[in-house]
Amino acid sequence: MVSRVIPVDPFDLVLFGATGDLARRKILPGLFHRFAVGQMPEGARIIGTARSAMNRAEFTEAVHASLLEFAPQAAKQSALLEKFLASLEYVRVDAGGEDGWDILAEAIRPDVVQAFYLSVSPALFGSIASNLKSRGIASANSRVVVEKPFGHDLVSARDLNADLRRNFDEHQIYRIDHYLGKETVQNLMALRFANALWEPLWNSTHVDHVQITVAESLGVEGRGEYYDRSGAMRDMVQNHLMQLLCLTAMEPPSRFTSDAVRDEKVKVIEALEPVAPSDIVRGQYRAQGSAGSYRDHAGNPHSSTESFIAMKVNIGNWRWAGTPFYLRTGKKLRARCSEIAVVFRDPPHMIFPDMAGRRSNAMIIRLQPDEGITLRNTIKEPGPGGFRLAEVSLDMTFAEALGERAEPQDAYERLIMDVIRGDQTLFMRGDEVEAAWAWADPIITGWEDFGPAPSPYDPGGSGPEDALMLLHREGRRWREIGG
Ligand code: BG6
Repeated sequence: MVSRVIPVDPFDLVLFGATGDLARRKILPGLFHRFAVGQMPEGARIIGTARSAMNRAEFTEAVHASLLEFAPQAAKQSALLEKFLASLEYVRVDAGGEDGWDILAEAIRPDVVQAFYLSVSPALFGSIASNLKSRGIASANSRVVVEKPFGHDLVSARDLNADLRRNFDEHQIYRIDHYLGKETVQNLMALRFANALWEPLWNSTHVDHVQITVAESLGVEGRGEYYDRSGAMRDMVQNHLMQLLCLTAMEPPSRFTSDAVRDEKVKVIEALEPVAPSDIVRGQYRAQGSAGSYRDHAGNPHSSTESFIAMKVNIGNWRWAGTPFYLRTGKKLRARCSEIAVVFRDPPHMIFPDMAGRRSNAMIIRLQPDEGITLRNTIKEPGPGGFRLAEVSLDMTFAEALGERAEPQDAYERLIMDVIRGDQTLFMRGDEVEAAWAWADPIITGWEDFGPAPSPYDPGGSGPEDALMLLHREGRRWREIGG
């Protein structure tokens, strides 16, 4: 059985930054895929805008080339591809100036869903939002979609929120964190709130600690200039890892509605305790052979930006007091691997002598690659001759368990369709983003003002040695990256 596809209503999606990298790699291929499976209706249109002077045919040709590169299945679906390309329009708009707005106003249909996707620098959000509103291009039902980075700190995030809210209501603003569009991330909610089995165990009485790892094997080649201004804390922890932490730690919402879910996430962020400098390890990858170091890739020989961070985070509430959450993310590590490991406490009384050294029960939720869930258990080793224990895993891989229904869908595909449907559950609310920055800011200023430089680490490993100590000193162990 294949996954069910429910077509969305006809729409006009205006894509600002239509010739940019994100549009080419993710947004347009994602839309093509939704078109190919029948979710994007034929009456829908994508209106690309950018500063470049080009006509519709040139834009269509550029999109065609991007699809062949980033959605290779398009080449085998030529009839569909032609139809999809026919849904494209192009309007030259100077997002920070005066040109093109009137033509855009004419191009928009008032009787379909209107979405404005700002895949541009956040510096342009304010100007685009006010042009859309003051020129009557957007209506009270239009939606506006913005991308990360949503601010650099609390002050800049507040400014961006203010820029958007001057022209749009919160229910019209869709702030993307693409981690929320990942299938397994949403599965975390199903796992927790559609099963009675786990909830009684999901607290500090039974959970010893939680490890959240988002490891990448690539470095920052090609985007070093952006990355050097962000580092792992701003690029990954304040948003993606924060979302994973929230979904793992939040209370069950009373209903599965966007505000009920987001209210619970905000409560988790607000309950985060300040992180002591001794609970943070920052690292920077070294050169290896002919492959350059972080500083080479960043083009900054004196950079003290971290390409790796590990930290211990405490949540000050009744459910989690006494159960640390360890977060870890970095570039140029052993493998590309994202997972959440919930490690349970040991039995209160050991009756088996062989128990010493055995690892605790754990639930590992694998987000990528090889999405699935593993439960680590202890059983009796089969055979006579004494009672020995062995560790086994109950393993579920979504691809095997669900067959064709597990067909992967890129996070952007799902999120764009949610925008059209008007479902904000998987988007960050303004107060949520601000709460995350309010927690992250003092941590960042702490090391910017007084902190030690990041520790160097070798590419292809697990990050700096000190990161291992963060757990060792408390009698715990990180799971092996990709292990
Ligand atoms: C982006 C970060 O938001 O997420 C990148 O800016 C990172 O630095 C990427 O590589 C990771 O996303 P994914 O989906 O590949 O895990």
